[in-house]
Amino acid sequence: MPAMSPEERREFARDLGGRLPAGFVLGAATSAFQIEGATHEGGRGESVWDAFTTQPGRILDGSTADRATDHFHRTTEDVALLHDLGVDSYRFSFAWPRLQPEGKGALRASGVEFYERLLDQLAAAGIDTMATLFHWDTPNELRGGWFARDTALRFGDFAHAMGERFGDRIGRWVTVNEPATVTLDGYALGVHAPGATRLFNSLPAAHHQLLGHGLSVQALRAAGVQGGIGIVNVHSPVVPATGSEADAAFAELFDLLHNRVFADPVLLGHYPAPPEGFEALFSALAEVDPADLAVISEKLDFYGLNYYAPTKIAAGSGGSATPDGSSDAMASLPFHLAPWPEFPRTGFGWPIAPEFLGTALDELATRYGSLLPPVFITENGASFADAVELDPETGEPHVHDGSRIDYLAAHLDAAVGAVTGGGPASAISLRGYYVWSLLDNWEWAAGFTQRFGLVHVDFDDFTRTPKDSYAWLRLVAESRT
Ligand code: FCB
Repeated sequence: MPAMSPEERREFARDLGGRLPAGFVLGAATSAFQIEGATHEGGRGESVWDAFTTQPGRILDGSTADRATDHFHRTTEDVALLHDLGVDSYRFSFAWPRLQPEGKGALRASGVEFYERLLDQLAAAGIDTMATLFHWDTPNELRGGWFARDTALRFGDFAHAMGERFGDRIGRWVTVNEPATVTLDGYALGVHAPGATRLFNSLPAAHHQLLGHGLSVQALRAAGVQGGIGIVNVHSPVVPATGSEADAAFAELFDLLHNRVFADPVLLGHYPAPPEGFEALFSALAEVDPADLAVISEKLDFYGLNYYAPTKIAAGSGGSATPDGSSDAMASLPFHLAPWPEFPRTGFGWPIAPEFLGTALDELATRYGSLLPPVFITENGASFADAVELDPETGEPHVHDGSRIDYLAAHLDAAVGAVTGGGPASAISLRGYYVWSLLDNWEWAAGFTQRFGLVHVDFDDFTRTPKDSYAWLRLVAESRT
């Protein structure tokens, strides 16, 4: 999609807003570890990410998230920003180690108070909530992390305590965010915490996160929560680099590893059958107890889809590059991620390919049919090298992030087009769209080098400056009929 002029962007916003179905939720998303900071306050426990960031060479710019965006001390300002943005809903995550420093036991009062204050402020601003229970900050005290089955049981207990405490005031609950990324980046390739490089031996971490998901669905229901419950998976349509048989086989393999291992058991109640020749790699999943699968496939009220980019796969080992950093383990695999010269790229280098969001929705509809509950796009967005500029006449600060506007416009448009266009995705009930992210924040292994926000954050003094994309999204929200 070619770059639009400022007036074309406003026109597009008005048109798009007018085309959104009645009741369509617009929101902005964040996660605790990426924005809160205050990692040593209120008796918060250590998470695997706190530990990971202290290891030399793990984080691109050597930063930690100790202060992140200082959201912990700035909730009033951040809720005001959400309010002025005009969105209906805020997707945030509870920091497990702030609530259960050791990953078990009674909820810690200081943590509970922090989130109660946030929820009070959101309620006063008329903003609904989607709260994630696990967005990667596993308490470090849980030995073995998600490689240990016990972590799934501890997570179920945490969900129960949270459901009892907050069950009357959360609009929607997300159990687990992107178990695929935690498995692949954290346990297979070692570019995310906890930094394990188990390659295919990482699959137990996938199963335990999914079991934790299912146990937490049961626990939230047992606690009588009022809000709907769902999971968030990141989907990346996979295409082979060429028409060769080898590329096709590895593309199918990667589609399983990235998408189907995480969606099939939740929606169909079983793991996907391994592609021919790769059976041994998936043996950990073939041996799971069928009772676990019954838990994992508990019926959901909604399905959260995160979409950023498609993946192209080629046979043969390539370099060590992954979308999230360099991994020696990646270089040892018999396939690699191939480049997409045909697409423009975000600051992260990710291909900008909005049509593949339509593909992701088509795949969901085709693969899961009537078993797919209503869908929310729970994250979509892009990083660019945004900078604050002062207006020469007024001295007002501005961030001209037209590329982000074009990205968001094209993706929301593609999503609406896919579900209304008469294709397979027309069967999907798409209920909302959350931009990643409300704020520029601490982007995991990339530290402070990637800005995804609708609001610019100065990482030295934490000044917030709404970007042009913020005004653009507000116009979309206002233009709904
Ligand atoms: C997703 C994560 C989110 C953020 C975006 C850019 O994979 O859920 O925390 O890092 O990517």
